[in-house]
Amino acid sequence: MGSMFMLGVWLFLLLSPFPLAFSERCHPNDKKALLQLKKDLNNPYILTSWNPNEDCCEWYCVKCDLKTHRITDLFIAPSVPETNFHGRIPPSVGDLPYLQYLSFHKLPNLVGPIQPTIAKLTNLKYLILTNTGISGPVPSFLAQLKNLDLLDLSFNNLSGPIPSSLTTLPKLTWLDFSRNKLTGPVPAFGSPKKPGPSLFLSHNQFSGPIPASLANLERIDLSRNKLEGDASILFSKRPQYLDLSRNLFAFDLSRVKVPQNSLTWLDLNHNKIYGSIPAGLAKIENLQVFNVSYNQLCGQIPRGGKLQTFDKYSYFHNKCLCGSPLSPCNHK
Ligand SMILES: *[C@@H]1O[C@H](CO)[C@@H](O)[C@H](O)[C@H]1NC(C)=O
Ligand SMILES: *[C@@H]1O[C@H](CO)[C@@H](O)[C@H](O)[C@H]1NC(C)=O
Repeated sequence: MGSMFMLGVWLFLLLSPFPLAFSERCHPNDKKALLQLKKDLNNPYILTSWNPNEDCCEWYCVKCDLKTHRITDLFIAPSVPETNFHGRIPPSVGDLPYLQYLSFHKLPNLVGPIQPTIAKLTNLKYLILTNTGISGPVPSFLAQLKNLDLLDLSFNNLSGPIPSSLTTLPKLTWLDFSRNKLTGPVPAFGSPKKPGPSLFLSHNQFSGPIPASLANLERIDLSRNKLEGDASILFSKRPQYLDLSRNLFAFDLSRVKVPQNSLTWLDLNHNKIYGSIPAGLAKIENLQVFNVSYNQLCGQIPRGGKLQTFDKYSYFHNKCLCGSPLSPCNHK
């Protein structure tokens, strides 16, 4: 009797259409948007787990909020570059209104512009479009994403200038546009009231002088651009990381007052910097990287701190630098 009853219950559960419906946490609108996205991307292998008969909170490449069960994270980032993945970022990505984290990474055949419907995702905190074939401009609609904390568009094929409206993003702490084909000036990030984001703009074609507001930033990488003029202002507050290498900067390094013990990384190689190395640099104990090679510096390398722990390749190809680790100065 008992076992027959159990069998009945078991059969009921097996055949009933309800258990799935009871356990599904995924919001139907989110599921619909994700299935549309999968279709628009031509059913790539990486989205195989996106089965319409299963709870979308269980799928790969997404995350649901624990309480609301709305999709908060979408990360399409194969561990090896997925070359079968062709096409553009589909408009359906804009139909996930609770998204906080969006990333497309290592997709060399993801092409076209940054999808305009991303402007609807006003809850976004992290936008990461990296190592793709995405091209076109950095759109000014990104300035509408007022909750952005991190914006990483590095390693793409983006061109044109950075819209200056991006400097108004109130919560931005990290901006990486390295390795694109961006041009024009560096916008005025940072203000005395708010430090401004860590800024990584290396390997582009930015040109002209830099804005003074960048002095409020703590981490700046402007390497491999065509920037020119005076960058001494960047030393005026508490810089930690400064990479200005391979630009056209020209200023007198002797006049720079180096703040003590904030600086850990200073790379100035390949510029037109003149004057001598300020004695203050010999007092910084935290300096881990230092490179002033290929400039027009002169005079004795100050002794002390970390300056003699770097080899001659940090100092070579200058006008007339001398003293350890280069050869001794010839006192007349
Ligand atoms: C970037 O664009 C150039 C043409 O402008 C193209 O040759 C190159 O393959 C593109 N790179 C990527 C990663 O898509
Ligand atoms: C400093 O920069 C020069 C020029 O790019 C490079 O050859 C050298 O290896 C660098 N030195 C160090 C210690 O990285």
